[in-house]
Amino acid sequence: MKNKTPPFTIRIFDTTLRDGEQSPGVSLTIEDKIEIANQLSQLGVDTIEAGFPSSSEGEKKVIKQIATEKLQPEICALSRANKPDIEAAIDCNVDAIHVFIPTSPVQMKHAIGMTPQQVLDAAVDSVAYVKKHGLTCEFSPMDATRSELPFLKQVCQAAEEAGMDRLNVPDTVGIMTPKTMTKLIQEIKTAVSVPISVHCHDDFGMAVANSLAAVEAGAQQIHCTINGLGERAGNASLEEVVVALHMLYNYKTKVNTKLLYSTSRMVSALTGLAVQANKAIVGENAFAHESGIHTRGVAEKPLTFEPIKPELVGRTRKLVAGKLAGTRGIKAELEEIGIRPTEDQLKDIVKRVKELGDKGKMVTDADLIALTSAVMGEVLGEEKIIDLCDLAVMTGVKVLPTASVRLVLDGKEYVAAETGVGPVDAVLKSIQSLTNSIEKIRLKEYRLEAITGGSNAVAEVVIKVEDEKGNVVSARAAREDIVMASVEAMINGINKCLLKNRKQGNKK
Ligand code: KIV
Ligand code: ZN
Repeated sequence: MKNKTPPFTIRIFDTTLRDGEQSPGVSLTIEDKIEIANQLSQLGVDTIEAGFPSSSEGEKKVIKQIATEKLQPEICALSRANKPDIEAAIDCNVDAIHVFIPTSPVQMKHAIGMTPQQVLDAAVDSVAYVKKHGLTCEFSPMDATRSELPFLKQVCQAAEEAGMDRLNVPDTVGIMTPKTMTKLIQEIKTAVSVPISVHCHDDFGMAVANSLAAVEAGAQQIHCTINGLGERAGNASLEEVVVALHMLYNYKTKVNTKLLYSTSRMVSALTGLAVQANKAIVGENAFAHESGIHTRGVAEKPLTFEPIKPELVGRTRKLVAGKLAGTRGIKAELEEIGIRPTEDQLKDIVKRVKELGDKGKMVTDADLIALTSAVMGEVLGEEKIIDLCDLAVMTGVKVLPTASVRLVLDGKEYVAAETGVGPVDAVLKSIQSLTNSIEKIRLKEYRLEAITGGSNAVAEVVIKVEDEKGNVVSARAAREDIVMASVEAMINGINKCLLKNRKQGNKK
């Protein structure tokens, strides 16, 4: 760990709503964008890049709306280096305008068809125009990292003379390494005196490392996105950048790290882009331990295998049962929900867990409880908090798959009906529409694990459900009827999630 006293503060420029929304397949509604902007404000970012006003009337409307929310962060809009774009941004009543224009030979020639002189003039005129309107101007020489250094410096100097407030250095196609980024920032610092920012893309998986190298070389701001969303392979991930700055570099940011996980979950739910399980900080497995030596270590002293305290980023530790699990890990996992087997019972439970794991099966939370019940007798009580009463599904040619379910939750009856892309989707949506509004439990993952035989084959469904706090519970069911296997797994998972929560004294 590097020590710098006093720690100095790095600005976090969040571009989830702009570059993040450029992630292939992502399209956010006005309501989604406003919800995310409010969350980013709570999180404590310094700037929210709310969008690109000239891209559409709808985009302009959202940015205007975000600007009226009176949020804490500076609200910024992206603009090409031309008057109509800048006017569209001014129209949105934002605090800052981020003006960009390509400066690399390949992009000047093939992306905008302009000569270097035209680019230089457009940059100067645009920065001056923004400043004439009294707004903060951040300027980006796009594709800076593939630009010729003398020309890049010339454009940056001219933009500074025209009044730019911050210079952002985009690694547009993510080709830098920490070493080349350090050198480039040192060079640019000799040309301009305004604060320097970096905007790194992750094409080679180097966006976070390159952003941190830029900071070490003197950059004072990092562009990043929640979950690393963004064009192609994405941008530097905000959660990774912030935690690394705080913990490895002893720099400060204004970000409240305890909100990182909930923000990541919200953005994943609204964008529909899942976070990979092994992603640092916010991935499902980032604080999960399975192998015997690890679970024993963390159960005794978390520091053994946890470089980051889960609470620091709004998470909890998860010990996972599986073929690599050890006795202490499974004991600790069961103790978490108030189950205390004897030594002999524990040995038997561990043996059964390993047998299941050796068959190549994922050992779900519900499996662990079922195996424990088989050894100790019913461990979480006979009662089902949620139970299915009726289910009707309709599907066919020219019929929109529709399902209606009646279920009992805490002794009270609820009915819901939903349509879906198929009967399984419709029925799971119906169950979710009830559980999500009553107990805030939603389906996180659905897998059809094994199908054997002919048309009467057994289908095995494994699901994961997630509660409000981000606790994930897995369950499985196997049946000849895929719809019924899905419903059973879902109800099973929701029950285990509720039972676990209530055993831990979290009854709502
Ligand atoms: O990647 C990039 O160069 C950009 C610019 C608009 C800054 O997103
Ligand atoms: Zn970008």
